[in-house]
Amino acid sequence: MKTTLSVIKADIGSIGGHICPSRRLLETVQSYVQRHGEELLVDSYVSFTGDDIAILMTHTRGPGDGQIHKLAWEAFVAGTATAKAEGLYGAGQDLLKDAFSGNVRGMGPAVAELEFDERPNEPFLFFAADKTDPGAYNLPLYLAFADPMTTPGLMLAPTMAKGFRFVIMDVSHTAGDRTIQLDAPEELYDIAALLRDNERYVVESIWSRSSGEQSVAVSTSRLHNIAGKYTGKDDPVMLVRVQKNFPATGEVLAPYAIGHYVAGCMRGSHQMPLMPVPLGSGISYFDGPPVVSCAAFAMHEGKMTEAVDAFAHPFWERVRDRVSDKAMEMRRQGFFGAAMLPMSELEYTGIMEKLATLDGRFQVHKKAA
Ligand code: F6R
Ligand code: MG
Ligand code: MG
Repeated sequence: MKTTLSVIKADIGSIGGHICPSRRLLETVQSYVQRHGEELLVDSYVSFTGDDIAILMTHTRGPGDGQIHKLAWEAFVAGTATAKAEGLYGAGQDLLKDAFSGNVRGMGPAVAELEFDERPNEPFLFFAADKTDPGAYNLPLYLAFADPMTTPGLMLAPTMAKGFRFVIMDVSHTAGDRTIQLDAPEELYDIAALLRDNERYVVESIWSRSSGEQSVAVSTSRLHNIAGKYTGKDDPVMLVRVQKNFPATGEVLAPYAIGHYVAGCMRGSHQMPLMPVPLGSGISYFDGPPVVSCAAFAMHEGKMTEAVDAFAHPFWERVRDRVSDKAMEMRRQGFFGAAMLPMSELEYTGIMEKLATLDGRFQVHKKAA
């Protein structure tokens, strides 16, 4: 029997603007999943990162299952009622459609799912990021799965010698899922050429070329493509199976020490460094900085152990200090140049109207004879 790991997340309201959900909201979602998921699920884990609540579920129904998606959707609807009752900001923000229609994809919540034959022991990582978009994982995944400077396992471990297959999605294509498969290491430069553009090309999944097994699943939704207007950044979740045929946990975590610049933060419109944070962290400085959390698990027959906080170790305190410095340094240049995203990625349309008005006031001067 194959095991499915499904994580579905949404921002359905938070305290103090976009900081984090209330305890009551989290409890509402948690208890809804427990009560209504009894028959469907083997196990579940409800958590938050920034203003997003993620429902991690294990079951045997396969990815994209209507009942599983419906359970998560309805848990978020129940949560929204609590969020409204408490006066939370942005109650129900990511529930973009009125009624559930078979699958939460395209309805607002982000989804990442993995189906696999459980190994005798099955270590995996659950990442959740806030105030950024799915392209934030491009760099860490490239380094962990294609670069022996980060992952010595690529040259040392026979189980990884053949490298990995990257499935990359063109998220600007809204008519359907447009993807390409590229193999590392042979097509490394092609992978690089796409992944450099975080806002357009996003890693959707990564597969072992030795065993054919899937390691990585990333949520690839672009909210502003669904809603056609600003609805907040996409705040992606990711599942990564680790060890043996896959990179080790430490190899997958290592790139987060960079604190690389990602799109997001204030008004979803800036370039700011990604900070690895402890589980259950909120948001603060400049509606950011963009954050990523990582819960590590082991599982047996679908039952998960308790979550271990992968970024709670003292090592990451130093990284967080450096990321804070990088964030403040970038903020010194305000909206100029690299600090703010290009026009096409700005999440608020006010500036477009301003520019359209100003456009009429430009004058073309005739050259002097
Ligand atoms: C970014 C984000 C926040 C808001 C900002 C303004 O993803 O959620 O930075 O954009 O707090 O929020 P509104 O427009 O709701 O007042
Ligand atoms: Mg939000
Ligand atoms: Mg969010």
